[in-house]
Amino acid sequence: MAQKVRKAIIPAAGLGTRFLPATKAMPKEMIPIVDKPTIQFIIEEALASGIEDILIVTGKAKRSIEDHFDANVELEQNLKEKGKNELLKLVEETTGINLHFIRQSYPLGLGHAVLQAKAFVGNEPFIVMLGDDLMEDDVPLTKQLINDYEKTHASTIAVMQVPKEDTDKYGIIKPSGKVDKNLYNVEAFVEKPKVEDAPSDLAIIGRYLLTPEIFEILASQKPGAGNEIQLTDAIESLNKIQRVFAHEFKGKRFDVGDKFGYMKTSIEYSLAHPDLKDEMRDYLIELGKQLEGKKPAVKKEK
Ligand code: G1P
Repeated sequence: MAQKVRKAIIPAAGLGTRFLPATKAMPKEMIPIVDKPTIQFIIEEALASGIEDILIVTGKAKRSIEDHFDANVELEQNLKEKGKNELLKLVEETTGINLHFIRQSYPLGLGHAVLQAKAFVGNEPFIVMLGDDLMEDDVPLTKQLINDYEKTHASTIAVMQVPKEDTDKYGIIKPSGKVDKNLYNVEAFVEKPKVEDAPSDLAIIGRYLLTPEIFEILASQKPGAGNEIQLTDAIESLNKIQRVFAHEFKGKRFDVGDKFGYMKTSIEYSLAHPDLKDEMRDYLIELGKQLEGKKPAVKKEK
């Protein structure tokens, strides 16, 4: 029987420079999509996948993440007195989760952030979830990886097809044949190759199921791309000593780590939000007409 996958790590120590000045004093993980901080979507995916304990690797100026998932007795009391039961329910949903926090004192890279979780994870398979990627599918992507693990007992990395010209923004795999409908054997994992060197267009997206042997490798991992300790490089070494599979995700990925991606996500989520969807739809249709009329005036960004 496969060991149960119970633990997840969310690296959240990044400086969020792409969203400055918003992220000067506020963690980027707390930027909302409509009315919910992005990190809450990630935590909901973990819980919906059966994860029981979550470690958030934080850095400076990240305390509001802890506060968000703590009880707010005053607020709860106030909502209770005013009979605002729907809002009370929303607030209460963010408490009672088994969250743990550790600091990454130096921003030495994703691999280094994951290494901070060694003691928390111990000798079990575990999940890594990156906060910049929101995933939508009938079965949560984290659960899809766990389902694979139950059959293979091996590390499995989520990947997705991306446009060839974007391959230098991701970890890219060199697949070597399929073992199942969505599961590939992998010959190599390469972090941010030049577009012309990319071995495929299958990019690592922000969900990983890893066996604990990764920690030994990470402990001596030398800096790679961007002079950072890269998780992808450690996975490449892991794949030399035990099989690591890639799971192709066929659902929808929202990249909220990028300004345009963030805006698109906000619009699409508001079109699905019960309080906003009709108004937003009418507004966008109207705006579309206006923009059509003014087409020559719309400047193309360089
Ligand atoms: C990280 C990983 C990269 C992966 C990407 C997915 O890169 O290092 O392999 O493809 O996340 O979003 P980052 O976006 O942090 O530069």
